[in-house]
Amino acid sequence: MLSVNGLTKAFGSGSNKLQVLKGVDMNIKQGEMVALMGPSGSGKSTLLNIIGGLLAGDEGSITLGKRTYGLKGPSSVVDVRRELVGWIFQDFHLLDNLTAVDNVAMALELSGMSSAEAVQAAETALDKVGLGDRMHFIPDQLSGGQQQRVAIARAIAGNRPVLLADEPTGNLDIASGKEVMALFKELCHDAEHPISILMVTHDPDLASNADRMLLLNDGRTEASDIRSAWGLDDEEDAVSASDDDAEPVVEATGGGEEE
Ligand SMILES: Nc1ncnc2c1ncn2[C@@H]1O[C@H](COP(=O)(O)OP(=O)(O)OP(=O)(O)O)[C@@H](O)[C@H]1O
Ligand SMILES: [Mg+2]
Repeated sequence: MLSVNGLTKAFGSGSNKLQVLKGVDMNIKQGEMVALMGPSGSGKSTLLNIIGGLLAGDEGSITLGKRTYGLKGPSSVVDVRRELVGWIFQDFHLLDNLTAVDNVAMALELSGMSSAEAVQAAETALDKVGLGDRMHFIPDQLSGGQQQRVAIARAIAGNRPVLLADEPTGNLDIASGKEVMALFKELCHDAEHPISILMVTHDPDLASNADRMLLLNDGRTEASDIRSAWGLDDEEDAVSASDDDAEPVVEATGGGEEE
């Protein structure tokens, strides 16, 4: 579904040049949820921005379905942003004076859908995220978790196959965060339109919800076994997971506890 091949990206030039990505290779299958972790400043958002068509890479390529891109500016990948990739951010980025259904429908109308079609697709998406009974509420009348679900509906509306989530639960309490993870899993396993999710998180407990974890380190991604790294596979082993090993990898807020 999504494949990134030898992707590099530097910011600045000369002695100020910062080589953030040094040849990232990764593949995400349809229906797969992958957690991307790595130290602050390692380039996680940069990688998502290039995949999402907001930023051009320097070398390499991205293939998403039948579309190959990665090195051209945002104006040449409008279709990727309109049809292929949905975004979830820490802040929900909803318009305060629009109802849930209008927030979702407006995004679709901006991408060229007729108003009637957009409202229908928005209703379908809101149903899918469990907000069928809150369609006509404005953001202020919704909890943080519900607002994030509106944002998720907006991201998947129109059947976009890939969802990029940059710290999606950063502003949510633990319970709402877990609900979002459960929803992500459902969306990946949807019988009709299974999507793929690439999620950046600093929280190993959240990452353990993913099918797989990738670590972005020194400009490259490597597979990492979050469950064993954090002792999540076996409760008894949790206490023996070495903090020394774990700390350089992620900024953790304590491990061990789960589900
Ligand atoms: N537009 C830009 N111009 C110059 N440098 C940039 C730009 N965007 C990002 N950087 C630099 O690239 C590096 C990677 O940034 P990025 O935001 O991708 O990190 P991150 O892994 O998402 O970090 P965090 O976990 O803190 O969100 C940082 O050193 C950052 O300062
Ligand atoms: Mg970031």
